[in-house]
Amino acid sequence: MFFNILEIIQKKQNKEELSKEEIEFFINGYTNDLIPDYQISALVMAIFINGMSERETTDLTIAMANSGKVLDLSTLGEIFVDKHSTGGVGDKVSLILLPIVASLGVPVAKMSGRGLGFTGGTVDKLQSIPGYITDITMDDFLSNVKKLGISIISQTHDLAPADKKLYALRDSISCVESIPLIASSIMSKKIASGAQKIVIDVTVGNGAFMKNMDEARKLAKMMIEIGKLANRETVCILTNMDEPLGYAVGNNLEVKEAISFLNGNMPDDLADVVFSLGAYMLKLSGKGQDIEENKNLMREAVLSGKAYKKFEELVKNQGGDISYIQNPEKFEKAKFVKRVESTYEGYVEEIPAEEFGKLASFLGAGRMKKEDDIDFSVGIVLNKKVGEYVKKGDTLFTVFANDEEKAGFVENKGLEIIKIGDVKKDVKYVYEVIE
Ligand code: URA
Repeated sequence: MFFNILEIIQKKQNKEELSKEEIEFFINGYTNDLIPDYQISALVMAIFINGMSERETTDLTIAMANSGKVLDLSTLGEIFVDKHSTGGVGDKVSLILLPIVASLGVPVAKMSGRGLGFTGGTVDKLQSIPGYITDITMDDFLSNVKKLGISIISQTHDLAPADKKLYALRDSISCVESIPLIASSIMSKKIASGAQKIVIDVTVGNGAFMKNMDEARKLAKMMIEIGKLANRETVCILTNMDEPLGYAVGNNLEVKEAISFLNGNMPDDLADVVFSLGAYMLKLSGKGQDIEENKNLMREAVLSGKAYKKFEELVKNQGGDISYIQNPEKFEKAKFVKRVESTYEGYVEEIPAEEFGKLASFLGAGRMKKEDDIDFSVGIVLNKKVGEYVKKGDTLFTVFANDEEKAGFVENKGLEIIKIGDVKKDVKYVYEVIE
């Protein structure tokens, strides 16, 4: 059937629903370079403003998933539960969570993304481990999963290529923060990567795409609905992203924090998020129905050293130098390490995640354009978290920089944006689970 892209744009401008065929037409046309960026930009803007129904969003998801290869993991004979995060700052959850669940027998075949803007990406963090290879063939990926029960690689080029193009376009025209577009982007990748069941960390707050609970619930419900229609059971866990997660923001700094966690040093917020997501991964994979029991199993896997051992095996199997994991002091260090002292006394009330993500990016930990190189050693480590008491002169955060001027800027800006006051905030890290 032939469609006219101008009529499709007009339909969306007039708030009409697009048919499945119209959606497939523009997705295929865009993926194959038959429809130019400017026409898709107009359509994306119309979707951004006027939204999409659940049916349209599901059709968009399936069309994007089918725009490239769809991996079939069923040949491995296990239930694959994938994990995804809607993005955040200091989010090293995958590095910790996946070895833990793998050590408990949940097979992990994970394709991760790179960071863009102020949010980090698991692939960049893994690449900060000398030798770790994130680009391997599909055959090697699957044989690693068979052999070790875990492999983490970067998303292959032929996985949901329509999403790759559309996401970059959305990013360049300020159309990322749209519920149907985010839901279809995430779910198309999960479906294409062969997940049978999916656990999604829907971050909420200052450093997340969803700034409030209402929006986050809408996104979660839409993804769950898509999951139902696509026969992929999906659970969403809404978590706090007002302040950076854990202490470190920056690539090898976060890997070091993940190693420390797997060695038993578990900050409350990170532990709560990791164990909640993992408990549902265990449940969906049929390894345990009781969520609290699953959390205990995970904690034991950390305390016994089993999860750490799985992480070491993963790194070694992917070419990484495990002497860095065994001795994290070996990681490349930034030239300038600046401890920043509080100039006030009181309770830490706010550490805005987005601003801290941007400051870490400014130091070189992230990329503003996709071609940018990353400096693995730079970033920020918090010394205090929201709810803690600080005295004048206590270290609030530490800047790791390779440029002294940039370090000075981050010191001043960081001090300006951290709010210290009289209120001791009681912070919740995991808000709710939507199944
Ligand atoms: N993460 C994704 O994969 N896609 C989006 O659109 C937003 C966050």
